[in-house]
Amino acid sequence: MIVLGVLASGNGSNLQAIIDNIKSGKLDAKLGCIISDNPDAFALKRAKESGVPAYYINPGSHKTYLETERELEYMKCLQEHKVELICLAGFMRILHSDFLRTFKDRIINIHPALLPSFPGLHAQRQAFEYGAKITGATVHFIDEGVDTGPIIIQRAVEVDDNDTAEKLAQRILKVEHQIYSEAIQLFAEGRLKKTGRKVEITNSD
Ligand code: GRF
Repeated sequence: MIVLGVLASGNGSNLQAIIDNIKSGKLDAKLGCIISDNPDAFALKRAKESGVPAYYINPGSHKTYLETERELEYMKCLQEHKVELICLAGFMRILHSDFLRTFKDRIINIHPALLPSFPGLHAQRQAFEYGAKITGATVHFIDEGVDTGPIIIQRAVEVDDNDTAEKLAQRILKVEHQIYSEAIQLFAEGRLKKTGRKVEITNSD
């Protein structure tokens, strides 16, 4: 059974969906540990309530990335818990190449838009304000860029005429909760074949 490590900075509803899907048997995985860069993250509370080891690890003083020494602590924690796949779930920091090399092809992220449209922060609002008719959610591997890694699963969400950015974000979030676990399950089954930018989903045996 694959061991997951989740990095989360905030509410942790994607983490909760993973916890729930493991409990219900939809997802054949085990949570090794949860790490947050925010001591007040609700994600930490959710993890503790489910009996998953949960840690706040100080990210250092920079706002957008983990300082090198701190990043080593994150890596050590993940390794101590024998994490095989790292799931970023609303983790608000960029990871450096050492981290990426150590966990090569074993870090994935969920993004609330259909990449490569609307990368970066507030993607749901970006799509809404742009006037997009269709947006959605993307699960992708992490590479050196911001929201640029090879795409694993995408699912569309239509923008309604009477939408608000908030209503749209809520519908996207529901889709995120589904496709993140689907992608993790495919990874766990060894069904993701990555060639360059392309990720093929192979048939189950
Ligand atoms: C989600 O919209 C996710 O796509 C984005 O950050 C948000 C995290 O939400 N990267 P939650 O903390 O999982 O509720």
